[in-house]
Amino acid sequence: MSKKIYSVICGTGKYIPTNIISNEVFLNNHFTDNSGKTFSQSNIEIIEKFEQITTINQRRFADDNLTTSDLGWLAAEDALNSSGIERESLDYIIFAQNFGELRHGNTGVDILPSLAARVKKKLNIVNPNTVAYDLLFGCPGWLQAMIQADYYIKSGEAHNVLVIGADILSRISDPHDRDSMIYADGAGATLLTSQTSNTPTGILTHKTRSDTLEYSEMLFMGDSYLPENGTKKGIYLKMHGRKLYQYALKHVPGAIQDCLNKSGVLLSDIKKVLIHQANGKMDDAILNRLYKLEGDLSVPFDVMPMTISWLGNSSVATIPTLLDLILKNELDGHKIKKGDKIIFASVGAGMNINAMIYQV
Ligand SMILES: CC(C)(COP(=O)(O)OP(=O)(O)OC[C@H]1O[C@@H](n2cnc3c(N)ncnc32)[C@H](O)[C@@H]1OP(=O)(O)O)[C@@H](O)C(=O)NCCC(=O)NCCS
Repeated sequence: MSKKIYSVICGTGKYIPTNIISNEVFLNNHFTDNSGKTFSQSNIEIIEKFEQITTINQRRFADDNLTTSDLGWLAAEDALNSSGIERESLDYIIFAQNFGELRHGNTGVDILPSLAARVKKKLNIVNPNTVAYDLLFGCPGWLQAMIQADYYIKSGEAHNVLVIGADILSRISDPHDRDSMIYADGAGATLLTSQTSNTPTGILTHKTRSDTLEYSEMLFMGDSYLPENGTKKGIYLKMHGRKLYQYALKHVPGAIQDCLNKSGVLLSDIKKVLIHQANGKMDDAILNRLYKLEGDLSVPFDVMPMTISWLGNSSVATIPTLLDLILKNELDGHKIKKGDKIIFASVGAGMNINAMIYQV
C-alpha cells in the first residue's frame, strides 16, 4: 500500500465552567407555554419530568467575567499543552460557535472580529500564516470543523489545525421556557496533525447532510415566552423539541450507517460512539436504532459514554469535551486505546447531521 496523508488527533483540551447549576435552581422560574400560559404543574413536577425525559440533572454556566472566546481560549491552551505542538506552527484555527461573543448581561450580536481571531490574539500567536476563522453549523459545528480540517490536511497544504467548539447557551436561554433547561455552557478544543502512513489511521471517512426545506426552523431565535418591559426581541434560542427529536431519530442512524459503509468499517468493530449530547433518552434511541439497522446487533453496554446528566447540552462543546475527558481518564473508566475505531456523530440547527469514523 502506498503512503498517504492522514489527519490524527494529537491533543485535546476543554474548559468546563465551575458554576454547577442543578435542576433545583429553576424551582422559582415562572415557566409558560409558547402563548404565555402558565403550566398547571408545579415547578417540582416540571423539573422531575424534565429529568425523566432528558436525563439531565445538572449543567454548568460560565462565570460572569468570561466570554465565549475566553472559554474557547482556555480549552485551546489545554489542548496545546497536551499536544506538544508549537503554537506558532498552527496552519489554521477554526472556531465553531453559534451565537458570537456573548458577554454577561449583553446579548447583542458580536461576531466581529471572529472568535478565532480573538483566540489567536489571546494565544499570542505572531505567525500571519495561522489562518483564523469561525464556522457556524449548529451543534454539529465542531465536527464539521474537524471535517474541514481533514480536507486541508489531506490536501498536503496544512499540517496542524486547532479546532475549537464553544458556546454560552445560558445567555440566550429564555427563563420562562422549560426547554431551556437543556442548555449549558462550555468549550472543547482538539488539535489535528498530519501523519503519513501505509495503513489507514486517524480520520477515515465522514458524512454530512443538511435538511432545510422542512426542518430549517426546528431551532430558531425567538422572543421570550413572557416578554418583560425592555426585553429585546428575538434573542432567545427556541426549539420545536418533539419534531426535532423525531427528525434526529429518523435521520441520524442512517447518516452514521452511510459513513460506516463508506469506510468499510463494521459496526461490530466500533469501540465507542461519541455523540452530541442534547437529550440522553434521544441518544439511547438513536443508538438502538443504529444497531437495529445493522442486522439487529446487540448494543455493547459501554459503547456510548455520556456526560449530559451533569454537563447538559453545551452545543459545539459537548463532543470535544467528552473526548478530552475520556483521553485524560476522567470519565467513569471509559478508555480509548490505540487501534480503536470510533464513531463521532452530531445533529443540530440547520438541520444538520454529520458523522465521522476515526481510527486511533
Ligand atoms: C424538548 C424535549 C425535552 C421534550 O420532550 P418530549 O418527550 O418530546 O416532550 P413532549 O412534548 O412529548 O411531552 C411529554 C411530556 O413531557 C412534558 N415536557 C415536555 N417538555 C418538557 C420540559 N422541557 N420540561 C419538563 N417537562 C416537559 C410534557 O408536558 C409532557 O408531559 P405529560 O406526559 O405529563 O403530558 C425533547 O423533545 C427533546 O429533547 N428534543 C430534542 C432536543 C434537541 O435535540 N435539541 C437540540 C439542541 S442542539
